[in-house]
Amino acid sequence: MGIKEGDTAYLNLDWSVVPIIPKYVDLLIGEMLNEDLKIVGFARQDMSDDQFRRLMGDGVREFADLAVRTDEWDAFAKSLSYVQGDLEQPEDFLRLGRHLAAVEAGGTGANRLYYLSVAPRFFSATVANLQTSGLAETEGGWRRVVIEKPFGRDLKSARSLNSVVHQAFDESQVYRIDHYLGKETVQNLLVLRFGNTIFEPVWNRNYVDNVQITAAEEVTVGDRAGYYDQSGVVRDMVQNHLLQLLTMVAMEPPNAMDADSLRNHKVEVLRAIRRWTPEEATRATVLGQYRGYLEENGVESQSVTPTYAALRLYVDNWRWQGVPFYLRTGKSMADKVTEIVIQFRCPPHMMFASGGGGALDPNLLSLCLQPDEGLHLRFGVKVPGEGMVMGTKDLEFHYASAFKEQAIPEAYERLLQDALEGDASLFIRSDHIEEAWRIVEPIIDSKENSINQPQRYEPGSWGPPAADALLAETANSWWQVCGEHGSAHA
Ligand code: BG6
Repeated sequence: MGIKEGDTAYLNLDWSVVPIIPKYVDLLIGEMLNEDLKIVGFARQDMSDDQFRRLMGDGVREFADLAVRTDEWDAFAKSLSYVQGDLEQPEDFLRLGRHLAAVEAGGTGANRLYYLSVAPRFFSATVANLQTSGLAETEGGWRRVVIEKPFGRDLKSARSLNSVVHQAFDESQVYRIDHYLGKETVQNLLVLRFGNTIFEPVWNRNYVDNVQITAAEEVTVGDRAGYYDQSGVVRDMVQNHLLQLLTMVAMEPPNAMDADSLRNHKVEVLRAIRRWTPEEATRATVLGQYRGYLEENGVESQSVTPTYAALRLYVDNWRWQGVPFYLRTGKSMADKVTEIVIQFRCPPHMMFASGGGGALDPNLLSLCLQPDEGLHLRFGVKVPGEGMVMGTKDLEFHYASAFKEQAIPEAYERLLQDALEGDASLFIRSDHIEEAWRIVEPIIDSKENSINQPQRYEPGSWGPPAADALLAETANSWWQVCGEHGSAHA
């Protein structure tokens, strides 16, 4: 770990600490963190250190599918302590500061990682209070702040939050989380593209017909309806996770695997995305709401919050000019699958008949991000026996079988470790956040101007039929290759 022997790092957490700790428990209890790490919970509810430890222990048992030995847990639990406080009360931060000083045994040079796993409406106040109470000052050790999503509700609020954050911390101290970037398979995209020679030469408008990025979920909004109804799918998934995936697919090769190079190239992609007016956004977007959403507990009875979005974007640069990027995501869909499909152009002339009697499938490269992590490369083969008839088959790679002995780490595990080590490569920079809002704002505006109302779709389906029509406009259709082990259009 980057934490030197004798250093101390602090995590200050609010309520959602309960599901968060189990996500990290593997990392925390394992060999990766040194014994000097202390975790300080900071939340409104009054409780003692022991109650906090018990609560965390219950959380671990309830949320984590981990066999944590009692003696391991007991040893780990000693590093937990708790301060009762209100995120909006500056005096409570002074108390927090005194507690931290006591835990540090008065020593200087300790490092602190402030983890704002708090409701987004408290981000500003928390950062401002960290500053006014002196907790952002370094005193010999580093200070970093991890901020959960959503970072802002639109461009204006993201900008104003960035300015509050920058009054307290330098950008290099700020780690804005998007858990998709912690997924092993998302990072594999970089290795696939820039660690091989065979993909990059065809990774452009000359060979790629279109790119499809799907993040479908079977779950409904469930008990998150209160939050979700105020946000909707564009803020919840498109602005962050889907645009992150798009930038990783479309970025130019960075010269080094460091935070600046990587993030500069990703922002370049966002800057190249064609801007829309709300009317253009309406034409290039399909919003949906699953039937039954309005009956969910916590959803307003007339809510027009979309739970599904499909959109077509263009990246206006030399590499991608004219190649449509299709993004879709939704709740209550037919399958849980996150997949990127690169559809290549068909051969300019076809001499062979198709095995199925229909049109031949093009070459596809499907990157399965979850649940069946791996990739498929679809190509044409001669069907045995039947003259010169062609079919398609997939070459497949699956993490589960290729790396049997190695579990795929939790995204948060990796990200927390990176933040402690000071590696910001997989965190979002302020300019990226603002560009991403600039891209999705016309969709939000078109919805809020009532010119782009969500269409109903059946739970367990692939979204509104209009999403198929959107692809048909460029003579395409949605692919689902991941998990199919065969050829299928979804
Ligand atoms: C979160 C969204 O950021 O990502 C959730 O707020 C969504 O609504 C989740 O369910 C999806 O994450 P994953 O890792 O299951 O694809």
